[in-house]
Amino acid sequence: MDKQRDTIKLFVLVGTGLLISCIVFNWVFSYSPDVGKLGGPIDGLTPEQLRKFDAARPMFVHRFEPDEGLGPFFNGQSCYECHGSPGSLGGQGNDLETTSFVRFGALQADGVEKAAIRDRDMTHLKDQGGPQFYKKSVTTEFQSKYSDGPRAETWTIPENADLTSKLIAPPLFGVGLLNAISDATLEHIEEQQIELNPYMRGRVEDQIDSLTHKLKCGRFGWKSQQPNLMLMTAEMMHRGLGITSFVDPETIFESGRTPEKLRRVLPPEPNDAGNIMVKLTYFQTLLAPPAKLAPNEKTQRGEILFDKLQCSFCHIPELTTSSKVLVVDPDSPFPKFRHMEITALEDKPVHAYTDLLLHNMGKELADGLPEKHTTGGEWRTAPLWGLRFRKYFLHDGRAANLQEAINAHGGQAEVAKKSFLALPPSEKEDLLAFLNSL
Ligand code: HEC
Ligand code: HEC
Repeated sequence: MDKQRDTIKLFVLVGTGLLISCIVFNWVFSYSPDVGKLGGPIDGLTPEQLRKFDAARPMFVHRFEPDEGLGPFFNGQSCYECHGSPGSLGGQGNDLETTSFVRFGALQADGVEKAAIRDRDMTHLKDQGGPQFYKKSVTTEFQSKYSDGPRAETWTIPENADLTSKLIAPPLFGVGLLNAISDATLEHIEEQQIELNPYMRGRVEDQIDSLTHKLKCGRFGWKSQQPNLMLMTAEMMHRGLGITSFVDPETIFESGRTPEKLRRVLPPEPNDAGNIMVKLTYFQTLLAPPAKLAPNEKTQRGEILFDKLQCSFCHIPELTTSSKVLVVDPDSPFPKFRHMEITALEDKPVHAYTDLLLHNMGKELADGLPEKHTTGGEWRTAPLWGLRFRKYFLHDGRAANLQEAINAHGGQAEVAKKSFLALPPSEKEDLLAFLNSL
């Protein structure tokens, strides 16, 4: 009897021991090993927040299929495809062509007026598949699956399109910090710039937050077209993967381009009730920013020049995040959102080198295609952190190196560009070394 009891006790003891070590093991090893590194999470997260980050990460690399809502028209099958490469989750994609978007439109006026590129008088050619060109469709990419049904052919760019614009996929490191800067901060910068130098002043473009229906400062996208990361993510699900969500009811799929018969075999719209959007947003929100390299004499000289030439007027070296930052919990009971506070994002310095405002960059950089109320020559000041990990620069990727990117500055940055060009070669090098250390 005693022996039997001892054996049971032993079993219980060993079992409990095993269970505890399993939990501890799991707890320790579910920690991201890459905290603070590119593609890893920001510093200072709680174990629970880290676990949620790790759980959300696969959504970013997941290759979506038509049954999951991909298409019917799309440009890529995963976020990672355009925003990452091996060893650089969230960074720039491998090549310029497949990872960029192409938009097109036509000038409305004809004759003399048409020759003078006007910013607003244009049509987005929606009846011909505009304003964004979709490179793929479910029936072109999954031919065997739809072999005997109706087809959704991708359209070519119409011949009467006289404006096309390529936009590259920006890296996403640190976007959660940009998201956590308050609207009041951006409005304050705008006011300060008006006082300091009205000629160079940037502009906040208010955008309607389609969830709360309130006006908020635009800050994401090359045209600052979205006020926060969640709405930008919804836009990207749509423009990148063709996955519709309930926050983005304006869908191209209503334009009659998808044959009714094909529509019937595709999943119902909207494709996502919140789960995909929120997981993707959470993952990006906690992505670590690129770490600045330790300064040396050269970069220190370059930093002084950066300020002296007024690059820092637009590319502001440091902003601060809000004192309270709430993020939607990726495990929310959808369609309801539950918020969680992320103290690691609160009151943090952000060395992104941007004012997040729109600036008129002159004729050479203008694509002539307005977006909402933004004119063709206006672009959001590009963040400069992580430049050393990049392969191409500027909104359309036209610059292969930093020198070319600076040379292309015009409009409100014309004076700063000219001052850069007037520098002796050694000082130019110092400035470029500084940019490469961000
Ligand atoms: C086919 C390529 C492609 C795919 C796929 C894609 N993106 Fe993008 N992404 C872009 C391009 C191009 C832009 C710039 C668009 C613009 O500014 O209008 C962009 C911009 C963004 C931005 C704005 C960054 C900033 O600094 O303002 C975010 C955030 C983003 N994408 C997230 C995602 C997420 C999340 C997914 C997956 C749902 C995704 N993207 C899928 C190409 C892509
Ligand atoms: C008036 C505001 C303004 C000033 C001044 C300015 N920039 Fe810019 N900068 C921008 C904007 C806006 C963009 C994005 C333009 C585009 O992509 O078409 C940009 C883009 C860049 C890029 C490319 C980044 C990328 O993501 O591709 C670099 C590098 C750069 N600026 C460096 C500089 C330097 C160095 C100076 C000073 C000599 C400077 N800028 C002065 C507004 C400014």
